Amino acid sequence: MARNPEHLHALVFPYPTQGHITPMMQFAKKLASKGVIVTFLTTHHRHQQITKAHTLSAEQDDPIEQEARKLGLDIRSAQISDGLPLDFDRSARFNDFMRSVDNMGGELEQLLHNLNKTGPAVSCVIADTILPWSFEIAKKLGIPWISFWTQPTVLYSIYYHAHLLEDLRHSLCEGTADEGSISIDYIPGVPTLKTRDLPSFIREGDADSQYILNVLRKSFQLSREADWVLGNSFDDLESKSVHLKPPVLQVGPLLPSSFLNSEHSKDIGVGTSIWTQYDASEWLDAKPNGSVIYVSFGSLIHATKTQLEEIATGLKDSGEFFLWVLRPDIVSSTVSDCLPDGFLDEIKRQGLVVPWCNQLQVLSHPSVAGFITHCGWNSMLESIALGVPMIGFPFWADQFTNSKLMAHEWKIGYRFNGGGQAGDKGLIVRKDISSAIRKLFSEERTEVKKNVEGLRDSARAAVRDGGSSDKNIERFVEGLKGRCISK
Ligand code: UDX
Repeated sequence: MARNPEHLHALVFPYPTQGHITPMMQFAKKLASKGVIVTFLTTHHRHQQITKAHTLSAEQDDPIEQEARKLGLDIRSAQISDGLPLDFDRSARFNDFMRSVDNMGGELEQLLHNLNKTGPAVSCVIADTILPWSFEIAKKLGIPWISFWTQPTVLYSIYYHAHLLEDLRHSLCEGTADEGSISIDYIPGVPTLKTRDLPSFIREGDADSQYILNVLRKSFQLSREADWVLGNSFDDLESKSVHLKPPVLQVGPLLPSSFLNSEHSKDIGVGTSIWTQYDASEWLDAKPNGSVIYVSFGSLIHATKTQLEEIATGLKDSGEFFLWVLRPDIVSSTVSDCLPDGFLDEIKRQGLVVPWCNQLQVLSHPSVAGFITHCGWNSMLESIALGVPMIGFPFWADQFTNSKLMAHEWKIGYRFNGGGQAGDKGLIVRKDISSAIRKLFSEERTEVKKNVEGLRDSARAAVRDGGSSDKNIERFVEGLKGRCISK
């Protein structure tokens, strides 16, 4: 099938987890709205989860295509296997899942072959930066490969310059460097960090961290050869990454427009949730404005029962209203009783605990005053875009750096003393949790609220017609057309 530059056909391929599927679907909608045909690729397993979450049967409409069609967009849904049986417990055995994802090359190649046989030929692959093996496949077909980064641009700079951190990494892994005392002020485009603010994969020497760091090394080596690098951030939040080659073209925040610029938009973005979203609006409606703390730790991390007990008691002791998303697999898929005995009875008037919700709807509710977050990048961007101050509660990966940026660079919330490390390396205790919540309701709040509202306005300006992110998307699509025409 011939390539027709008037009908660009982009394959958009996120890493198959919630925090990557969601923003890349939002980007797919932006592309489709500029006249690009998009095939949105997930795995059979995630697609099955999404379909189930929307209580659709396999014979009914595809939720991704359904959402696109409602908006008049040409987005086609495609799936390939991640190499594991559908009932494999990817949450409990995440490390095996990651290794399997790294072997999906054959499936991707076959899919591209089939798409080229049956429809408009695929003109480019827009793949998650951390799917580096897709680079070789795009290059084999002679089409552009675009690296899509779903974390802050500062994190891109850190991994891009990871070679500068090699000596420090060795000392940290061997236990001869102190996490708190060393300052890192030599990474281009990155504010001064303490070692504990670095992403966990750089600090930790266990086999899984090493594995992920190796994937990242490969990713960042190939990303240097990408035709474009796109990132889910915006120019007023993070300075332009001119020191990177190619630079990161910031196109975010990638959120449905009804939560950014237009309350009347039909773009509410429900199509990609992997679990059914509990509707908490009635509970929230019954609370006074600015009175509720929202608590959620994203889609992936696991917490110990001890940490959850500290959180539960800290929330209760704060005396404030709270809405807590407690994923059923948060400890593990086989542990269901993760709260202290009698807790749900005791907090009946104060709190609501749900397995999953529509986070954007919650964050945009007037009763919500603040967000205790693991600092996953989507959660943070959503909170910024909706003007909600945060309390950083990082567990893993980029979350430590994100929490540092949030509390110390942008000053839009607080983090715990010493950076606060939940997960394997630390415990955040009840007393600190309840006092952080009280701080969020105190006079001190005025400053962080003002700052986050300022960034909210900038975020909205960036995605408006003619805003920096809108222009960057325009520039990218024009460049892509030019590249395909000149071939
Ligand atoms: C992962 C990593 O953990 C994170 O560090 C990285 O930045 C992105 O990938 P995840 O843990 O899922 O992401 O967190 P996050 O990036 O915050 O994404 C979670 C998404 O799930 C958000 O878009 C949020 O709106 C959504 N969500 C969360 C819901 O829809 N309902 C909920 O109840 C909770």
